[in-house]
Amino acid sequence: MLLEAKNVSKVFRGRRSAEPVRAVADASIRARPGEFVAIVGESGSGKSTLARILLDLIPASAGSVELDGVPIASMTRAQRADYRRSVQAVLQDPAGSLNPRKTVERTVGEVLRLHRIATTAPETREKVVDVLRLVGMTPAERFLGRYPHELSGGQRQRVLIARAIALSPRIIVADEAVSALDASVKAGVLRVMADLTDRLGVGYVFITHDLPVVKKVADHVYVMRSGQIVEEGPKDEIFSAPSHDYTRTLLAAAPVLGEER
Ligand SMILES: Nc1ncnc2c1ncn2[C@@H]1O[C@H](COP(=O)(O)OP(=O)(O)O)[C@@H](O)[C@H]1O
Ligand SMILES: [Mg+2]
Repeated sequence: MLLEAKNVSKVFRGRRSAEPVRAVADASIRARPGEFVAIVGESGSGKSTLARILLDLIPASAGSVELDGVPIASMTRAQRADYRRSVQAVLQDPAGSLNPRKTVERTVGEVLRLHRIATTAPETREKVVDVLRLVGMTPAERFLGRYPHELSGGQRQRVLIARAIALSPRIIVADEAVSALDASVKAGVLRVMADLTDRLGVGYVFITHDLPVVKKVADHVYVMRSGQIVEEGPKDEIFSAPSHDYTRTLLAAAPVLGEER
């Protein structure tokens, strides 16, 4: 399976007086199951907009998103539904991704029911327990009845991952999914994500401004600036020999990497 953004652009047209904003400009990326692809760039460089386009939440102004060569825009209803199951989102929790009034069991169970992966209550519970185990929330039964405020930041992020994984996606688009977490908690969630690649073969489009994280986990890196992909390559090449001035600046500004030089 191959997920591609091909020459994708997005222009936001403001109200009457406002200038249009070109948030993404001719960006192309590729992602596959089993692969950890990172998109890095400063705030405002268009990362989240590209993520929303990949997730089929907003349309591109130009270019296309394709799954195995089939553009989203020309998919049948069934293909589109399959796309939306195969490519799942994990966003930052403070953005309000979890409903404060829903328990963990309900949050994860609802998507299982919606997609008819489970139908009865016992079957749903069993599947919820399975995915909670996959994200390291054990004993899973202890977490079923908890509400978001009864969970730590790392646990909430694991629930978001569990909810995505429940649909057996091939690729997860994670937008700043660990950026708000403390270092040790962050490492734990990243281990869970890497573990899911080993166990389920899931791939990631991992969007972040956090370069030390990218250095640790990514296979392939795209560098975004002002809506454009200015550089891409295998992680080791990008980190050892950045070819673009902007990438060099970005790397120099990352504290952990600075120390290592
Ligand atoms: N819905 C929107 N309407 C207008 N402008 C937007 C909208 N969403 C994002 N933008 C603008 O697009 C640019 C890229 O934003 P974004 O994709 O959120 O970047 P990043 O995630 O890298 O911080 C910014 O200038 C932002 O203000
Ligand atoms: Mg963003």
